[in-house]
Amino acid sequence: MKIKNICCIGAGYVGGPTMAVIAQKCPKVKVTVVDINEQRIQLWNDPDVNNIPVYEPGLSEIVEEARGRNLFFSTDVEKAIDEADMIFISVNTPTKTYGIGKGMAADLKWIELCARQIAEVSKSDKIVIEKSTLPVRTAAALKDILDSTGNGVKFQILSNPEFLAEGTAVEDLRNPDRVLIGGDIDSEEGREAMDALVNIYASWVPKEKILTTNVWSSELSKLTANAFLAQRVSSINAISELCEKTGADVNEVAKAVGMDSRVGPKFLKASVGFGGSCFQKDILNLVYIARSFNLQEVADYWEQVIIMNDHQKRRFAANMVRTMYNTVADKKIAILGWAFKKDTNDTRESAAIYVADYLLNEQAEILVYDPKVTAEQIYSDLDYLGSRSNDANRQAVTVVNDPMQACKGAHAIAVLTEWDEFRQLDWQEVYDNMLKPAFLFDGRRLLRPDTKREIGFEFYAIGN
Ligand SMILES: NC(=O)c1ccc[n+]([C@@H]2O[C@H](COP(=O)([O-])OP(=O)(O)OC[C@H]3O[C@@H](n4cnc5c(N)ncnc54)[C@H](O)[C@@H]3O)[C@@H](O)[C@H]2O)c1
Repeated sequence: MKIKNICCIGAGYVGGPTMAVIAQKCPKVKVTVVDINEQRIQLWNDPDVNNIPVYEPGLSEIVEEARGRNLFFSTDVEKAIDEADMIFISVNTPTKTYGIGKGMAADLKWIELCARQIAEVSKSDKIVIEKSTLPVRTAAALKDILDSTGNGVKFQILSNPEFLAEGTAVEDLRNPDRVLIGGDIDSEEGREAMDALVNIYASWVPKEKILTTNVWSSELSKLTANAFLAQRVSSINAISELCEKTGADVNEVAKAVGMDSRVGPKFLKASVGFGGSCFQKDILNLVYIARSFNLQEVADYWEQVIIMNDHQKRRFAANMVRTMYNTVADKKIAILGWAFKKDTNDTRESAAIYVADYLLNEQAEILVYDPKVTAEQIYSDLDYLGSRSNDANRQAVTVVNDPMQACKGAHAIAVLTEWDEFRQLDWQEVYDNMLKPAFLFDGRRLLRPDTKREIGFEFYAIGN
């Protein structure tokens, strides 16, 4: 089966970069990324590629190369579905905020809408691919919807979860650790569909890195991979608190532990807590599935990863207040970094949002600087929590374009995203322009404690 036309529904942090790389690596395949969000599509089509809505190192260059050649962004969802042989569904699957499973289960309404639209529009056979992260066995529901049109069109459903990490998406897509493709391995048509997708990836990914499994294993592997990664962060964060009480240093412990080849050094960095759109929602989803099968111990085990993460964010903020003589009311606090990690403009579930909210509840005055996040996004993140009125957020929080301006006259600074540029700041000048004692709280273990203490900062870092 030769694929000529690919459609991807959802032009977000996954759909955009993934399709850009497929288009770059398969120049003979036409790739159309569609979205119902007109503003997002407009930005993807902005003549200045620096304005595309997803910031990822290297992404704008790829879009510049492929856009208009074999990569297109459009709001005409029906046309793109109709023309495609292969359709990726890459829409959002956030945690449900209503009804059964509220706060735990994945909200699949956008997935179902896509399936219904594909069923309605399709006039020829198609391969439909779950790119979104989904609860195990969602493919069965998709199949039910797609197969009940009665118009004779045949659909093959594959699961192809995305493992890219934001901030390194382009590199991860170009050189993935593995590509996972789940499908109906017991049928001829299923195997053909899987081969078609394998061939797309094989244009640039070595065959031995492309795994094929049954659909359920593929769906569950993605949730499991995120749960394992988040668990490592919560594990080292748990140890960071113990370090602070005992005089051990979490970086030294992490290095010693990580040099054991059975453990490995990656993802052992203590921090103010993990964020991002995926870890929390995928673990909650896993917990929900386990509970729904009455596997209480399994559910409780994984839930602890989230409980630890929430604790870490709260304890960081509480420590700031305690250190600053138990009150931050009317004190100016500079927050450096709002994105959930460096090299992305994504702020979903960012630790900065929760730390800021905590400090605002304590009536602090906050100044925020982030090199890639807009003021609009920062206010919208705070408004979404509903802790106070939108006006009150705008009164208490000022967003600035210059880190020095954020820190000027501040009582304290909290470094909440590990942007490289924060290392390079003129910390002496920062210190000189602050109120004394000048408190500096490093939530990312980004800065060197010795040089900051030499300058005169009251320096606090996670796990130190
Ligand atoms: N962000 C990540 O790092 C990451 C990594 C791996 C997997 N995932 C998974 O990929 C999926 C997408 O994540 P994301 O971060 O790209 O989300 P996103 O919110 O950035 O993008 C999703 C897009 O889908 C669009 N959309 C929703 N319903 C639609 C419809 N019916 N028709 C057309 N467009 C529609 C939305 O407007 C939005 O622009 C999620 O399931 C997520 O769990 C995300």
